[in-house]
Amino acid sequence: MLERRTLGVVAPKPHTVFTAPGRKNPCTEYVFTRDGFSSGFSILYLYDAPTSIELNEVFKIESHGGNLKRLVGEIMDESSQPLARRHVQSWNAPAGENLLAGRTALFMNNNCRVSVVRGKAGQCGPGVKDAWSFTNGDSDELYFFYAGSGTLLTQFGALPFKKNDYLLVPRGIPYILQMDGEIEALVVEGDPFVEIPGDFRNPHGQLRMEAPYTHRDFRSPARLLTEAEAELFRHGVTLRNKSLTHHRYSKSPANVVGWDGSMYPMVFSILDYLPKTGKIHLPPNLHTTFRGKEFVVCSFVPRMVDYLEGAIPCPYPHANVHCDEIIYYVDGKFTSRKGISNRSLSYHPAGLSHGPQPGNYFGSVGTKTADELAVMVDTWGPIHMTKAALGYEDAAYATSWEE
Ligand SMILES: [Fe+2]
Repeated sequence: MLERRTLGVVAPKPHTVFTAPGRKNPCTEYVFTRDGFSSGFSILYLYDAPTSIELNEVFKIESHGGNLKRLVGEIMDESSQPLARRHVQSWNAPAGENLLAGRTALFMNNNCRVSVVRGKAGQCGPGVKDAWSFTNGDSDELYFFYAGSGTLLTQFGALPFKKNDYLLVPRGIPYILQMDGEIEALVVEGDPFVEIPGDFRNPHGQLRMEAPYTHRDFRSPARLLTEAEAELFRHGVTLRNKSLTHHRYSKSPANVVGWDGSMYPMVFSILDYLPKTGKIHLPPNLHTTFRGKEFVVCSFVPRMVDYLEGAIPCPYPHANVHCDEIIYYVDGKFTSRKGISNRSLSYHPAGLSHGPQPGNYFGSVGTKTADELAVMVDTWGPIHMTKAALGYEDAAYATSWEE
């Protein structure tokens, strides 16, 4: 994802016998790759092979407490619904005892799924047993934490996160979220990827100097797991093609003495995002933070606004005819929007123009700052609302543009 990083000890040369200091037996090398073997990769050194699955402990999880449909999402019947601007009140989604029980898909298409997670304190595994790890075998996962804090545990080590952090977990990495208390988060799954946009990098792979963040803003695991933490990974659940499968390992796949490479989980605080301001209004793509296949994730953060005399800082009414737009409102006063609150999601499908509600547009002239914190997902191509999201809809939103 970013520059090569290293933690712990690694062999001088890959694919050679390597015995870590203090160990009697040679380590097992585990090569974690993307896009075949031609894209980013990392190499981990494990006590034991990560392949020790016990075949008699492999089984499908049919319902996961009735939540499997809520987790993977069911698209609402669009033939019976008018095309409309919509407002989903995410706080009405049920909280759960763990990562998966508290996760509800709200919007989805072939490349992208947008969910909300509302979890209670504790180990955030899939919940059939407390300490199971979860692996998304379909998509990279980008969390945005609205509230709460905790630690992500993976084979790459321990990575703390807190409110206002993005947490990017590449697909295929088993993980456990240890929550300090209640958490609430947005999750954007990207198939086949979520990553830093390529045009933010120079030919040497560095983030360009005008990129909206620097290498120093991204945190990766700073310590390896303890043996007790690694033991939690003996049970795992993997999501693949809308189904969950349980695996048990005879030896933990997470006892790691070191790793290096460019693929690892990382954290970036939205408060470290460096917004750009123009003499007149700059379009939303100037707020791009991550990109997936045919979608982008943008960050709206507090900033100075347009400074030409007579400039209108509020976004103009617009028709971005190739994109559906979802905005998750986090904090502050969103310049262009009324009738929403923190944790609202607005959905503005292509085919309908949208823009500020009456009063906001000219009312913004002369303002110096925008005090807003929000995350936007723009998809090239339709994204569909789920049946669950329809149940949390504020129907009055669609008519809130009436004078
Ligand atoms: Fe828009």
